[in-house]
Amino acid sequence: MLHATKVTTLERFILDQEREYPEATGELTNLLYDIALAAKIIAAQIRRAGLVQILGDAGAVNVQGESQQKLDIFANETMKHALNRTGRVCAMASEEDEELIPIPGDVEPGRYTVLFDPLDGSSNIDVNAAVGTIFSVYSRISTGGQGTLEDVLQPGHRQVAAGYVIYGSSVMMVYSAGHGVHGFTLEPTIGEFLLSNPQMQMPRTAKYYSVNESNFQRWSKGIQAAVRGFKGEDPERMKAKNSRYIGSLVADFHRNLIKGGIFLYPGDNRNPNGKLRLLYECSPMAYLAEQAGGAATDGVNRILELQPSALHQRVPLVIGCAEDVRFVQESLKTHGNTL
Ligand code: AHG
Ligand code: MN
Ligand code: MN
Repeated sequence: MLHATKVTTLERFILDQEREYPEATGELTNLLYDIALAAKIIAAQIRRAGLVQILGDAGAVNVQGESQQKLDIFANETMKHALNRTGRVCAMASEEDEELIPIPGDVEPGRYTVLFDPLDGSSNIDVNAAVGTIFSVYSRISTGGQGTLEDVLQPGHRQVAAGYVIYGSSVMMVYSAGHGVHGFTLEPTIGEFLLSNPQMQMPRTAKYYSVNESNFQRWSKGIQAAVRGFKGEDPERMKAKNSRYIGSLVADFHRNLIKGGIFLYPGDNRNPNGKLRLLYECSPMAYLAEQAGGAATDGVNRILELQPSALHQRVPLVIGCAEDVRFVQESLKTHGNTL
């Protein structure tokens, strides 16, 4: 039951934070609402995903054109539409677009760039498992006019905010603007995100590891040894863990953020840099992990210090509880990371 007098909406929470931290601007607040609105529209569409065929075939509802778009294209268009005419953004970049996304010529460019993975884990849609939207916000470097590549190719430690929305058994938005990680759950009857998980923290070490183990034979000796360690090969150094892998970074990360754990997408001899994209997946998640007391590396370097060189660059990712991430780093040093 909802006690309206006690709830904190996303709007109220961000406004309070703004008062507390004078460097925060109203513009960033509004940008986060823009993303929250896009998330509600995407969530509504995802809920109907299994019905699209039925409604389309019956011809009873005129949803075909829009609803039969692939959901990741729908999500991409929704994010762009929610952000591009606000005057808060000077350029965007998306996993679904080859090039930098300019804002319309008749709109005054704003001071932020927003980068996103509009629908993460999209192969999970078909089986009704959780998917998400990941976002990352930077202040522009260039002055005036449309944003440039330089404005989006920034190392992750310069993010001013990052977060994700998870479309799971409930819809949650989890974000950080540099003062901890906070989670909000969508209350469907009033259509508002309400504060449900303030100051989310990861433990030093925890019982879950998540990795696609079908790649085991293609990993370096160091990653193989680390994963054997997680299975309990050397209990003196690392207690045996339990395994969980959904195949949707947002869902795997979210579980590890709530319960504690480590997620790996290492390089392998087919994909030396792994699969995940630095700008749309690794950097925003690394920002959240560090804000929650965890860590994120590519096995050697801190993710947030990597200088991106291209929009769709991939990097190996080791992210989660700090001690568990360190264990992987040590294993790579001892056993090598040659593919
Ligand atoms: P996307 O749907 O945005 O392309 O991302 C899918 C990613 C990520 O969510 C997940 O961690 C990873 O793919 C799973 O890859 P494997 O199927 O290779 O395990
Ligand atoms: Mn993704
Ligand atoms: Mn995607």
